[in-house]
Amino acid sequence: MLNTKTMIAALCAGAVVSCVTLQMTKADPVTDELVIDGKKMITHAKPPEGHPLDVVRSGWLYREPDTRSLEADSFENPGMLFVSKGEQIWNKVEGTAGKSCASCHHDAAKSMKGVGAKYPVWDAKTKRPIDVELQIDKCRVEQMGAPAYKFDDGNQRALTTYIKYQSLGMPVHVDLSKGDMKAWWQKGKDVYYTRFGQLNLSCASCHEENNGKHIRADHLSQGNVNGFPTYRLNTTGMVSVQNRFRGCIRDTRAEIPKAFSDELMALELYVTWRGTGLSVETPAVRQ
Ligand code: HEC
Ligand code: HEC
Repeated sequence: MLNTKTMIAALCAGAVVSCVTLQMTKADPVTDELVIDGKKMITHAKPPEGHPLDVVRSGWLYREPDTRSLEADSFENPGMLFVSKGEQIWNKVEGTAGKSCASCHHDAAKSMKGVGAKYPVWDAKTKRPIDVELQIDKCRVEQMGAPAYKFDDGNQRALTTYIKYQSLGMPVHVDLSKGDMKAWWQKGKDVYYTRFGQLNLSCASCHEENNGKHIRADHLSQGNVNGFPTYRLNTTGMVSVQNRFRGCIRDTRAEIPKAFSDELMALELYVTWRGTGLSVETPAVRQ
């Protein structure tokens, strides 16, 4: 049984007090081990210096038993279909140069191993951090003579899933020493703690102060991104990191920043850092 405790939590903000009162039930995350295809995943880790929490935890530990077991079994995990779809795209010739990803990078299991654990990285050319989605676009435009994907194009999600899957089990570690990564990290941190929307909530209001509690039908996790793109059972498809951010922001009834905007790139870098040490779990399964 879960160790549960009911409480009324008031998430309040501002001089003119606006509060959202939610009935919350505290339920500890599970302590089970996650083993995928014989590989043991790191689902809790010691946080990096300057991290506000005592333990960094994977969102998997907060999910229901059925959802957890789907992720633990690659034959059952519906996200694996998108890994296969991504592999087809990897080998498909597109664009004026007559090349596929495989023409240059060959076997993704070797050439893409580690990519999912280290992105976002500093891009010296555009002088900003880029995530896997933007790196794919960079190669499509500069190397293949193919158009960049529209945000959340089905092929973009599948290819990102395929690339991140090559790092399954590897611990997340972003390199903040390059370029202006530290300033972008700080910018992302500022966004994380800014209250927005009619509900006046920040990311921290839910994922830092209230993680471990039930909010409506959901068990609030720390909001880590080590499992992205994730397969969502309620929409039966892959959800990208920035789409998840946009969904959480929409729920606070705030204006939603554009995908790959400075705000969301900085946030992706900062939130990825918050999950330092957790295994890449792509494609994770969520409700
Ligand atoms: C003509 C050769 C060529 C093709 C085709 C190509 N790439 Fe690249 N790719 C490169 C080069 C060169 C780099 C390093 C420079 C850079 O980052 O752009 C690179 C870098 C990358 C990286 C970063 C690797 C790392 O360790 O940081 C990823 C990820 C990547 N490519 C994915 C892809 C994908 C996905 C495709 C197909 C959509 C693709 N590439 C097509 C040449 C290519
Ligand atoms: C009103 C509360 C609330 C706020 C504010 C909020 N979220 Fe969430 N978020 C949720 C809920 C509920 C879920 C689904 C359960 C879970 O995974 O925590 C979720 C899920 C997530 C996930 C997926 C975690 C996983 O393991 O799949 C990420 C990442 C995330 N949120 C990031 C953010 C970021 C970044 C912000 C700030 C822009 C934010 N959230 C603001 C409630 C919130």
